[in-house]
Amino acid sequence: MPETAAHTSAEPFIDFTRSIPPMPAIFQARLSRSLAKLAGEENIDLLARTAISGGGMMDREAGARWLAPRFGSSITADRIAVTNGTQSAVLLLLEALVGADGLLLAESLSWGVIREVARRAHVRIKGLPIDDDGIIPETFEEACRNERPKALYCNPTDQNPTTAIMPEGRRRAIVEIARRYGVTIIEDDAIGRLHPEAPLPIATIAPEITWYVMGLTKCIAHGLRLAYIVGPSPAATERVMGPARRLSFWAPTSLTAAIASRWINDGTADEICTAIREENAKREELASSFLSDTDLVSKPGAMHVWLRLGTEHDRHGFAATLKEQQVLVRPAELFAVDDVPLPNAVRLSLSSPLDRNDVERGLRIIAANLKQPQGF
Ligand SMILES: Cc1ncc(COP(=O)(O)O)c(C=O)c1O
Repeated sequence: MPETAAHTSAEPFIDFTRSIPPMPAIFQARLSRSLAKLAGEENIDLLARTAISGGGMMDREAGARWLAPRFGSSITADRIAVTNGTQSAVLLLLEALVGADGLLLAESLSWGVIREVARRAHVRIKGLPIDDDGIIPETFEEACRNERPKALYCNPTDQNPTTAIMPEGRRRAIVEIARRYGVTIIEDDAIGRLHPEAPLPIATIAPEITWYVMGLTKCIAHGLRLAYIVGPSPAATERVMGPARRLSFWAPTSLTAAIASRWINDGTADEICTAIREENAKREELASSFLSDTDLVSKPGAMHVWLRLGTEHDRHGFAATLKEQQVLVRPAELFAVDDVPLPNAVRLSLSSPLDRNDVERGLRIIAANLKQPQGF
């Protein structure tokens, strides 16, 4: 049975702020083996000689293989571009699909960097209200009618930070509205491979208007990050990514891509992803158990959980008190895409401590603090 590595952290803090995956026990052995094999390959020097923006054919084909279980069917490599991560993928998509001064809609609480990526692409960003199932179709439609957005960035599967998994019916409703108002969808499925029970991606319902992105940061390792973009068609992928090919800032590093592609082809990527999924499940069970009498929003196997606080706790004071006790959490501000009022909540990334015992210790401290009303 897969386990996490027997690392014990020398860190003074129990850090629940970074949403990077746990490190499976098999990881070190698999990486050493792959590096040794790679070192013995005949053209290793040529492999390292260059990096290809959009990825080489082998890497795009490996991407298609990796994404097929998520799509529930095969996809062709000519729709895929490989980038060095989701951030550069989304930056390129925003520049090409939204453009300067165009409006991007997003969940009002979202991936912590999306606001900054939008700013760098010179696009305006506006948050949409969300409920426990994600974006609310009625308010999405209202925004489409009144604000004429060019695109919607969304994270429908195990949403960061609220853990919402958008049900299939809602995905279809969002698609129907997007089609009617001519809005392009950028679907970030960062955690999709870790939730095989989740509905199929929006990209399978509306491939003609959806740009799908999945990085390896969450399901393999942050240090081996690269991301696959799937465009609506080979021609669309070429039209959007082609003009950026001479720019190398988004090219996947050849050695990283070589390891990722070999791992996908020989089953190692599946093995690591399964180990991460199993460890996430154990940690989420701990959170659900220690915080059972709180307003915790979570899903089985979730990598992070969303803790809604009552009026007796203010999220900033709560985070500061925890920090004094060596536990780090992120208040709602860090996920805001614009300046609207925020819920009184914090995100706990259960996956970042290397040692599961630290997760348990941190959760005990959080549970104990929730029982102590803050004096304010
Ligand atoms: C919603 C979301 N998308 C993507 C990523 C990964 O980004 P990258 O591929 O640039 O490491 C993360 C995690 O950091 C995330 O939370």
